[in-house]
Amino acid sequence: MKKRIQDIDVRNKRVLLRCDFNVPVKDGQILDDSKIIASLNTIEYLVKQGAKIIILSHFGKVKTEEDKATNSLAPIAEHLQKLVQTKVIFSKQPRSLYLEAKIENMNPGEILVLENTRFEDVPNKLESGNDAQLAMYWAGLADVFCLDAFGSAHRKHASTYGVAKYLPSCIGFLVEHEIEMLDKYVLNAEKPFTIVMGGAKVEDKVALIEALLPKCDHLLITGGIANSCLATLNFNVGNSLRTRDPEIINKLKSLLITYKDKIMLPVDAIIGREYNNDFIEHVNIDKVEEDDMILDIGMKTINKYKEIIDNSKTIFVNGTAGKYEDIRFATGTRELLNNIVNTNAIKIVGGGDGVSAVKHFKLGEKFTYLSTGGGATLEYIINEGLPAIDNIEDL
Ligand code: 3PG
Repeated sequence: MKKRIQDIDVRNKRVLLRCDFNVPVKDGQILDDSKIIASLNTIEYLVKQGAKIIILSHFGKVKTEEDKATNSLAPIAEHLQKLVQTKVIFSKQPRSLYLEAKIENMNPGEILVLENTRFEDVPNKLESGNDAQLAMYWAGLADVFCLDAFGSAHRKHASTYGVAKYLPSCIGFLVEHEIEMLDKYVLNAEKPFTIVMGGAKVEDKVALIEALLPKCDHLLITGGIANSCLATLNFNVGNSLRTRDPEIINKLKSLLITYKDKIMLPVDAIIGREYNNDFIEHVNIDKVEEDDMILDIGMKTINKYKEIIDNSKTIFVNGTAGKYEDIRFATGTRELLNNIVNTNAIKIVGGGDGVSAVKHFKLGEKFTYLSTGGGATLEYIINEGLPAIDNIEDL
């Protein structure tokens, strides 16, 4: 068991808190602040303990000097100020001569947000390369390190991983809760356990499928992943998105044989055509033609999957059934999610696009748990752990 924030004396200490504030922002507006909200438990606990809270987070991809202009954490720090009662200060640099003085002058319970940790990636990838000097520098600002960035815990970066080497370390409430939920409801799910899996690229999901098949009773496949499976079984999927990688195809073939009693594939589809935006048709899966692109599952598939969903005790959703952002291809994703929320089963959604779809259809509150991680959640399920969490001191 990992040391938790409540296992360490943080009263009046300087606490380096790694959050995942990598939230979607458009034209300076935060589109979804749920990851920030999910961090508040730990932040508020530290405020009550009179700690000086020094927050580190990455934001977006920072590969060039120009990327810095659009990836500042300043708007996030401003937003955080609206969510907490205490004072939030923003440091324009993730590392500067003045930081120590700024921290010295903080009152107990105040928050200092450092600029995007990935600014340190230009030009020498110090953050993502887990540079020891940088990790030591950040660690030198504090007395304790608390990892509360579940969504970034698959990254062995200086701010997620390196710093823990130089300070007493612990996990925050968000990470503790993620582990508890994923362990209980996915890794040790109550049966019948059904996984509804979709998404575009099978390459990103094959390890997850492999890890989950022995644990689940049913795997209901949709999206681009279904196309790849269907093509492996010699169905014509026309111009649809699918893998051409021979290694992946072989792996899928063997999984489809070994777990044939657990895996279900679409029996019908909604198809479109690349050069004809007006073309949309419903076909049985064996009637897809060369120019067709499968963009959603059909009603027969939805009804077949519903029977399984209705008889499940736990349902884990990962990925989407179709191109749901286009209303013509949204039915599969919407109906499957509606069917799921209308059951009494435990309902978990994990991985970036599935969570976005649940929020898009405003069904978030009807789920038992929405994981805050994208890639991190999938890696946690595959490996039953994550590097930055494994790296924290044991109790
Ligand atoms: C996420 O949004 O999934 C996390 O913040 C990780 O972001 P990254 O893939 O840029 O490391």
